[in-house]
Amino acid sequence: MHSEAASTTPAGRKRILRVRWREVLRELSPRGASLSARYLVVSLLAAIVPLAAAVTLYDRYAADLVLRLADQRVESTLAATASKLGDFLRNKAYQLDGLADFPPLAQIAGTQVGDLDTRLLTRLQVEADSPDVYGILFFDRADRVIAALHGQSAIEPELRDEAGPALAALPRVDFQGVELIGPMLPPDGRPGWFLIRRAIAGQAISVALQVRLASLSELLSGASLDVYRPLLHTPGGRLIEPVGTQWRGDLPLVRAPETAPGWYAALYRVSPQLPLPGTPARYVFIAAAALCGVLIVLIFVYLGVHMRRRLKPLVAAAEAVGRGEFALHIPAGGEDEIAMLARALNRMSAQLRALIRTRVESEKRAVLGEFAASVAHEVRNPLATIKTCVQALGSREEDPARREMMQLVTEEIERINAVIEGLLGFARPHDPERTEVSARELLRRLAALVGPMAEEAHVALSVLGEPDLRLWVDAGQTQQILMNLVLNALQATPEGGTITLRAWREAGFACLTVSDTGHGMSDEVAHKVMEPFFTTKPGGTGLGLAVSRQLAEMNGGSIEIASLPASGTTVTLRLPLAREETP
Ligand SMILES: Nc1ncnc2c1ncn2[C@@H]1O[C@H](COP(=O)(O)OP(=O)(O)O)[C@@H](O)[C@H]1O
Ligand SMILES: [Mg+2]
Repeated sequence: MHSEAASTTPAGRKRILRVRWREVLRELSPRGASLSARYLVVSLLAAIVPLAAAVTLYDRYAADLVLRLADQRVESTLAATASKLGDFLRNKAYQLDGLADFPPLAQIAGTQVGDLDTRLLTRLQVEADSPDVYGILFFDRADRVIAALHGQSAIEPELRDEAGPALAALPRVDFQGVELIGPMLPPDGRPGWFLIRRAIAGQAISVALQVRLASLSELLSGASLDVYRPLLHTPGGRLIEPVGTQWRGDLPLVRAPETAPGWYAALYRVSPQLPLPGTPARYVFIAAAALCGVLIVLIFVYLGVHMRRRLKPLVAAAEAVGRGEFALHIPAGGEDEIAMLARALNRMSAQLRALIRTRVESEKRAVLGEFAASVAHEVRNPLATIKTCVQALGSREEDPARREMMQLVTEEIERINAVIEGLLGFARPHDPERTEVSARELLRRLAALVGPMAEEAHVALSVLGEPDLRLWVDAGQTQQILMNLVLNALQATPEGGTITLRAWREAGFACLTVSDTGHGMSDEVAHKVMEPFFTTKPGGTGLGLAVSRQLAEMNGGSIEIASLPASGTTVTLRLPLAREETP
């Protein structure tokens, strides 16, 4: 009642939590290094390493797949871009052809632009104003600019002026009957350009479109792919970004087929690795792996704590055995290994207890044997002499009071002799000579022996049960046991009491009991009565029960005592049955 209330209050719950966590921490601390903690670490490695490997492999595989797909896309994108570049240049060449074949253009040689007739000027201005063109330039044979016309997009008046001097240094390639010159990338960050030029038929001059470099490079801007950036490669090894500026870097390129010699589109990788697509499946996979790891940790921590709790009583019990305490009883419910171990420990302690008891007893007996033999030797002979002398003196004594004293001395000497006999019998018992013995015969003889004594003590003696049993025992020793038991009963039973002898068969044994209605004994006394020399009687030797148990065991039997103070005692002698009696 009380504890229930405590654990349901918030404080109680908190305490439970704290205790559990402390156990968990102890379990995981490397200094604790318990078996279960080590198992935990090993199992974690065994479970998490393959999981992590699986996740990594999956990522690799996914990255590989993405790369392969990207490579295919790269190829088709590059092909598309190359064809756009070709279209653009062909378009410009076509525009230039139209211009170069325009008949009135012949008059341009040696003329100032301002002097040209309006029809030609209008036509030139239209061409120069087209959005991709900065202007139109005319060159003589020595590549000197002889005339120039700016278009609307020509924000740079000096373009014309730098074109002549720059020309000699610029790379030139052929493209389908026209010349591609450049590109020119002004160093001060002004927009770059290139020329597309052809000779005018029948004249010593040539005409060129000054084309915005960005108009060409812009065609690449659609080719951006994941980690790839498009670049325009131009003769002279320059790389132009889609916005028209030069790019300096040397990451690996994927090339498109050349549009014109030295002119081609290319893709470069921004980073050596592709970013993985954040697919939900991938997150679920990683989350599941993490969850598995956490679950494994929790399960093993729980198992570790549980195991430690179950092993604790076993360790305590083993330590108790080490200290010499054999009265163990470890609770051992269940069928698992720990329960088996607990049962084995219980059995082991019980056997150790029995072994030590018999060992101690046999040692005691051996010591007693030595002792009894020397006492017998040293005491019996002088006693015999004393007894003879006292008897001789007594026979000649006339004074009755003195004669009685002599008689008393003789009786005491006989008692000492009896003690020495008993001692010798206990310490050096004879081997039993077992024969078939009738229980009826045993009890009859016993009744004849003690009957007069019982009568004198006014105690009733009765025999019950099935005395037809046949025992396989030493008749003399059995008689001695029963005699000891009945004498004890007689000594414990007051006038008017009853002593009952019973015989019956139980579990393949013959059971003979001696019950009395005497004063009984306390638990404390009952525990010690079998020990040699334990007695509660003024003239007792304390050997009766010790000798009886020894003899019973020598005959393959046992003795048990059940007693209640003030109500009586029952001693059960269990002995083996003769062969034909055993069912
Ligand atoms: N039937 C009995 N009733 C009560 N106590 C008994 C009985 N039998 C034995 N005892 C107790 O056991 C003790 C030991 O008995 P035993 O070994 O025969 O030695 P002793 O009879 O010489 O005392 C007795 O002193 C007595 O206290
Ligand atoms: Mg006795």
